[in-house]
This record gives sequence, C-alpha cells and structure tokens, in this order.
Amino acid sequence: MNQITITGGQTINGTIKASGAKNAVLPILAATIVGQGESHISHVPHLHDVTTMNELLAQMGAQLTVDHHADITICTDNLKNQTAPYETVKTMRASILALGPLVARYGRAKVSLPGGCQIGARPVDLHIKGLQAMGAKIDVHDGYIHAACDRLQGDRIVMEKVTVTGTENILIAATLAKGETLIENAAIEPEVVDLAKYLKAMGAEITGEGTSKIYIQGKEQLYGTHHAVMPDRIEIGTFLVAAAITGGSITINNSCNDDLDAVFAKLIEAGANLTTTADSVTLNMNGKRPLPVDIRTAPHPAFPTDMQAQFCALNAIADGASHITETLFENRFMHVEELNRMGANIHIEGNQAMIKGVKKLSGAPVTATDLRASASLVLAGLAAQGETTVHDIHYIDRGYEAIEEKLNQLGSKIIRS
Ligand code: EPZ
Repeated sequence: MNQITITGGQTINGTIKASGAKNAVLPILAATIVGQGESHISHVPHLHDVTTMNELLAQMGAQLTVDHHADITICTDNLKNQTAPYETVKTMRASILALGPLVARYGRAKVSLPGGCQIGARPVDLHIKGLQAMGAKIDVHDGYIHAACDRLQGDRIVMEKVTVTGTENILIAATLAKGETLIENAAIEPEVVDLAKYLKAMGAEITGEGTSKIYIQGKEQLYGTHHAVMPDRIEIGTFLVAAAITGGSITINNSCNDDLDAVFAKLIEAGANLTTTADSVTLNMNGKRPLPVDIRTAPHPAFPTDMQAQFCALNAIADGASHITETLFENRFMHVEELNRMGANIHIEGNQAMIKGVKKLSGAPVTATDLRASASLVLAGLAAQGETTVHDIHYIDRGYEAIEEKLNQLGSKIIRS
C-alpha cells in the first residue's frame, strides 16, 4: 500500500472542507507539556505526523486518548521521562518542539538531534541558542541534546534567522520562565499565532504574536484547556492547485483566506477566477490552461516554501516560461527530476527552477522524496495523459489527510495499492 495510481485527464470539480493544520497541531501538542491538567485539542487532522507526536508524548508518560474524529484529550502531568528518542525524532523533525516545553516544566530534556532531511540540513542551532540565552545548560553529545535548568529566566532573544519551530520552541519555554522574554525577528507564520492562542487560553501572557516582536510574561503555572486547531493553509493551497491544473473548479469550506494572500495572488495571475466568503474560497479555472507565474519563496506573508513544489507542477503545463526561486531550503527541488520524467521541461540553476511549460505531461512511474514533492507529483498525475504511479507515497500521508479519498470525491481516479 505504498503507491498510488492516478488516471490523468479528469477535471477536479466539487466542494471539500479543509482539515486542521499539521504545522499548528504539532507545536500545540508539544505545548500541552507546559499545562497542568487535561487539554482537549479538536479539529485535529488524521496524519501520520500527528500519530508520531502522540506516540512521542505517550512514551514520555502522557495520558492520551484519541477519539474517532482524531481529536485528542491529553494530560502531561507526572511525565515519567523527558526523552525524545532518535527512533522517533528521525522520522519527524518536529519532535524537536518537545525540547523547550520539557525544560520549562520539568527542568530537563534529552532530545535527539533531528539530523537533516531530504529538503535540507535543517539545523536546530537557533533553538538551542535561544534556550541557552534563557539559562538552560545544554550539552550536545552522542547525537542528543541534553538540556537542564532549574527555572528558565526570561531574556531578550534576537533570532539570527526567521525560524518557525525555533520561534515556537522559545515561545512555549518562555511562558513558564521567570520574568519577561522578548523574541525579536520572530516568525510570523499563522501557525505561530494559533500556538500563541492555545498558550494564552492556558493562562500564558503573550502579546505581539503574528509580528516579529513577541513579548511573554512568564507564569508560575499554566492549565490545560480546549483548543480547535486552525485550518491547514497548505492543504487548501494544494487543492486549489488541483482544480487549477485540471481546468476545473473547487470550493473549500473552513478556509483561512487571510493566511493565503500570496498564494491567491499567484493563482489569479495564473488565470484562475477566485472568490471568497468569510470562511470559504472558490476557484474556477473555466477549462483554461494556466498562465506561467514567477515565484520566490520567503517567510510569511510572502509566498510559502511549502507551496513551491505544487506550483512547479502548475507551471510545468503553463502556456509560457517561468522561474521559481527557493530561498529557504537548499534541496527542495527533488520533485523536478520526477516531473521531467513525465515530460516537463524544467532545469535547475542554483536555487532556481527554470520552467518552460508544455501542453501535456505524460503519465509515468515516479517516486516521491518528501511531503510536498509527493503532492506535486499527484497534481502532475491529475493533469497528465495516461497513468501515473507514485511510489513511496507514504510521505504524502505525513501532511495530507486521506488525499486520494478527497480527490476522488472531486472527480479524480486514484487507487492506492
Ligand atoms: C517549519 O519548519 C515547517 N514545519 C516547514 O513545513 C516549513 O517549510 C518551514 O517552517 C518554513 O516555513 C513545521 O512547522 C513543523 P525553519 P522549520 O526553522 O521550523 C534555518 C512542511 O512541508 N534554521 O523555519 O523546521 C533552516 O535551515 C514542512 O510542512 C537554522 O539555520 O523551518 C531554514 O533555512 C517542511 N537554524 C530556515 O531557517 C535553526 O535552528 C527556515 O527553517 C532553525 C532553522
């Protein structure tokens, strides 16, 4: 069951509801560590990465139940260990998000270094520097981060680079630190804001989230609470591209439109008709071939790197030439060679993909290499002539909830085998 076969040429038409955001629920689950008593997290996407995070917390000793909606009730009092083992961290680098909360509440943590992943080196030096600035004693040896501190001390922390999980790790830790913390050059991604919303509901004192300066007044105690996870803006963007690449139309309910300005702008530039209500977005491509759009990824609110691979697929069949510049990760074009096997005309120069649109892609056997690359190959398969088999499709299950079921509801022909 690690491959899917797509019969291309179907037009995507219909309505779906956006799932909860992977990149919000993962830091929020890690943040349950700093709250006493039970938290109930709802609108949780049913994803492999969420299962991995649940397993990580459970092996620490968290009391955790998952209901049939995938919603989670969790209590992290009296954790029997504060370790995030290599076996778990190597499968999901977001496990690093346990570091700050564990040190903040339990005074110690032993977290495996995540190591690199397919899209880049993915260092965590800024996570470590931030916690050291707050007084944590940190040694890195034997492939693990060993951290200890009786109680973290708030401080002014200037992030050398904008890092989403780096900001999140320090933000969570600061909520239980002594005194005030100021995080400068903080990430302003919507998922950071959703995390802050949960922390504030637990009793944390935070202002400035969603800006590059986040102020936290540390507290003695935080308390578990209920939180509904924000919608997944990358899932929404991916399904909008599915309709655009097949000339179809789609309505996505429970959409977070304010978080998608840069993606919407590029879809409109590609020739899509886009309309929105307070919590939904409708895209109609009216059967047209997309126009080429130039993309440059950058931190929010600029064009998100997590949508780069999907737009490589869209540009691959566009009526003209385009280029896509990836500025965040050093190796996030692995989908390109696979797209070229389907007849795309893309070549890489440094951190740029130079794309000459072709009229039609041809179905072919291809192999997924990472989460968003696998989405790109599925999108290309939808538009291609003939059958595309995507091997190693397990990557896609890390970030998309039942993607073939949702796409088949919208008119595609996808079989998992
Ligand atoms: C988060 O990763 C997301 N993951 C990624 O989504 C997303 O692509 C990325 O942010 C950028 O938006 C989660 O939120 C779980 P970074 P993160 O730290 O936090 C450098 C997906 O497909 N850096 O913002 O790990 C780093 O090398 C995933 O859903 C350091 O140098 O990314 C990169 O060049 C992929 N030192 C840049 O910062 C550090 O300590 C941005 O990385 C940390 C990061």
